[in-house]
Amino acid sequence: MQTLELKAVDKFFGELQVLSSIDIHVEQGEFAVIVGPSGCGKSTALRMLAGLEHPTSGEVFGNGVPITDPDPKRVLIFQEHALYPWRTVEQNVGFGLELANIPVKERKKRVNEVLDKVGLDGFQSYYPQQLSGGMKQRASIARALVMNPEVLLLDEPYGALDAITRLTMQNELLKLWKGSGMTCVLITHDIDEAVYLADSIYVMSPRPGKILEKITTGLPRPRNRNSSGFVEIRQRIMDHLDIGTYHI
Ligand SMILES: Nc1ncnc2c1ncn2[C@@H]1O[C@H](COP(=O)(O)OP(=O)(O)O)[C@@H](O)[C@H]1O
Ligand SMILES: [Mg+2]
Repeated sequence: MQTLELKAVDKFFGELQVLSSIDIHVEQGEFAVIVGPSGCGKSTALRMLAGLEHPTSGEVFGNGVPITDPDPKRVLIFQEHALYPWRTVEQNVGFGLELANIPVKERKKRVNEVLDKVGLDGFQSYYPQQLSGGMKQRASIARALVMNPEVLLLDEPYGALDAITRLTMQNELLKLWKGSGMTCVLITHDIDEAVYLADSIYVMSPRPGKILEKITTGLPRPRNRNSSGFVEIRQRIMDHLDIGTYHI
């Protein structure tokens, strides 16, 4: 299992500075959340952890080793589920195992186990267009989990879902993560989602993105969104983002 680190990371795209002196340290098995306004460089930072983007200056580490390329142990899950429409759920989820030449029988077994885990047992032969938004995202998560990753990188995974499905999916994700040892980094612009899920929250400023504060939540799970500790952290984040008060 893995620790993740961004050290003094700056990122420019041409003249445009996107990230400024970013320091992030995620412990093994920790659930970290990055929250910040649109365009502040959240996806860019996450893509660095996935080995898909590189800092202009500074360093990125997985388990203390520089991250230079994608690694199947670190999977990225996006808002757009990216399932192949011409493949069934079983074929989509088993795709990585197929590429790794895992024999059919073992593939089927592992796919069925993981579908059961995400609540999609019985939907093996469905095509993506026959699934609800939440089910597509479950299939997406199953496709990642079937590879036994050490790190889950989630880029606004529930951004396209309705509010109720979103809350359900948050609980399901916590169940999958709990006791798995997986290190999770999730990006959201949903403040409540951040406080509900995170061990630690990195609050970012508008572009060029800086870390305004790292908040260690320290709240017991399951969390009550109306508890005083929860409300306090929510307000602290809103104050950072300058949306805590209505200026007339
Ligand atoms: N490959 C790229 N080339 C040029 N500009 C990019 C690229 N990727 C992202 N950007 C720019 O970097 C800024 C931050 O993008 P992003 O990391 O996607 O922000 P966020 O996820 O916080 O909304 C945006 O202004 C975006 O246009
Ligand atoms: Mg983004």
